[in-house]
Amino acid sequence: MRLTRREFAHSALAAGIAAALPASLFSGCSLSSNAARTANSAPLTSSNVTQFDTSSAVLFPKNFFWGASTAAYQIEGAWKEDGKGESIWDRFAHTPGKIKNGDTGDLACDSYHRWREDLALMRAMNLNSYRFSISWPRLQPAGSGPANSRATDYYSRLVDALLEARIRPLVTLYHWDLPQALEDAGGWPNRDTASRFADYVELAARALGDRVTDWLLFNEPLTFTYEGYLDGTHAPGRNSIFDFLRASHTVNLAQGVGFHALKTTRPSARVGTAFLMSACEPATDTEEDRRAAERAHAVSNLWFVEPALKGRYPEALAFFPETAMGIKSGDFDKMRAPLDFIGINLYYRTIASAPGAMERLANPQQWLFPVKMEGGQQGPKTDHGWEVWPSALYDVVTRISRDFNRPQIEITESGCSYNDGPDASGVIRDTRRIEYHHHYLQALARAIADGADVRGYHAWTLMDNFEWAEGFSQRFGLAYVDFKTLQRTIKESGRWYAKVAAQNRVGRLV
Ligand code: FCB
Repeated sequence: MRLTRREFAHSALAAGIAAALPASLFSGCSLSSNAARTANSAPLTSSNVTQFDTSSAVLFPKNFFWGASTAAYQIEGAWKEDGKGESIWDRFAHTPGKIKNGDTGDLACDSYHRWREDLALMRAMNLNSYRFSISWPRLQPAGSGPANSRATDYYSRLVDALLEARIRPLVTLYHWDLPQALEDAGGWPNRDTASRFADYVELAARALGDRVTDWLLFNEPLTFTYEGYLDGTHAPGRNSIFDFLRASHTVNLAQGVGFHALKTTRPSARVGTAFLMSACEPATDTEEDRRAAERAHAVSNLWFVEPALKGRYPEALAFFPETAMGIKSGDFDKMRAPLDFIGINLYYRTIASAPGAMERLANPQQWLFPVKMEGGQQGPKTDHGWEVWPSALYDVVTRISRDFNRPQIEITESGCSYNDGPDASGVIRDTRRIEYHHHYLQALARAIADGADVRGYHAWTLMDNFEWAEGFSQRFGLAYVDFKTLQRTIKESGRWYAKVAAQNRVGRLV
């Protein structure tokens, strides 16, 4: 079976790192990450009991942000209009064999021209927050130099229209579309890219920061460094452990310098990053598996959080040689970014276990990073094969709240791919999506009741769009997009979400 992107990012992350390390460190060993992908049967945990509680209605805090998220490359299209530069995703998607069915984001949802239709969807869904990203190569075509005024006009018009509709713009500065010119100069493994990022952040803040107050520096640093530089399934498609480690470190530096560039330009800006997280549960209750789960938590959830908030890498990852990561003296101070809030993208959980003695003997790399990770198998699966496990959201939010002294948190993404289409009367009855958001929101409400300071929830995604290497084959939207006509139709889940947002509460599911 081909692993999906998500299974890979979470299930095989450690295996991938472990498998890649010996390739360079232990020549002559036979490598296989398969052992780390074999199935475990997770025990029933007490949290299962609450997985599908539908009986109670829950209210959310006053002024809660009800939003939806998108990303420039996934929706905008207009890939070479109005002076936009080429991005690594343009290049990657134009390379045969990289994207399912040969799809590209050249047109996507054509939001560059149809953003007013998108706004109409948001209004119909009663949203009061819209998370979208700026395309770096649209704003700064070659990744350096002045801003492209046609791009700033476009984003300005969008921001103004959102504000007029009383929808908060939550702007992501980097959702994976690096200018190709910067990739040609070395990409994220080149530490100079951190300075380029800070310059770009300043341009964006100058152009929009008089009206945009809430910003996300990055979307899922772990995903784009790992899949882009080690696994190669995402742009720019490289396969090198060293590139991956260096890219991680440059992104951590960029988070620090980008944060300060934004605050210097707009001191009242509220700044976070959207981190991909998952609840890391031990496969069994043994001491070894519990330790493995802590390692999985460090690699999956903290690699880009601790550098920002604590100026250091998680201890569990200390085995990475500093020289391989390109760490220089003074870098730990540069990485610091006292984020105003933590964005959490959460879809599912991870089951972690310790490799046994025989596995370690067979795979010496397991000594270096002794953890096996895989997706849970007990809950229902989405069409993308991801397990639906609502209490993962509760577990992660309460843990981050506890470990980082109750920071402000926003759920910047959660959602599910179900490929339901219109029935004979044109209605899209995506009941499973309603159930998904219902249960995840109930889990979130429990975390809030237990003390977490959560300010908002953003469904991934406003409308069906280009799902990276999966092309248009995975539909995550609250609105359906006919990719031939580009017509948008609100699904039943979008109608349900509109009620939730209007009432600020999740009612009973009947
Ligand atoms: C997240 C990405 C987002 C989308 C969803 C399904 O990892 O941030 O762009 O692809 O997954």
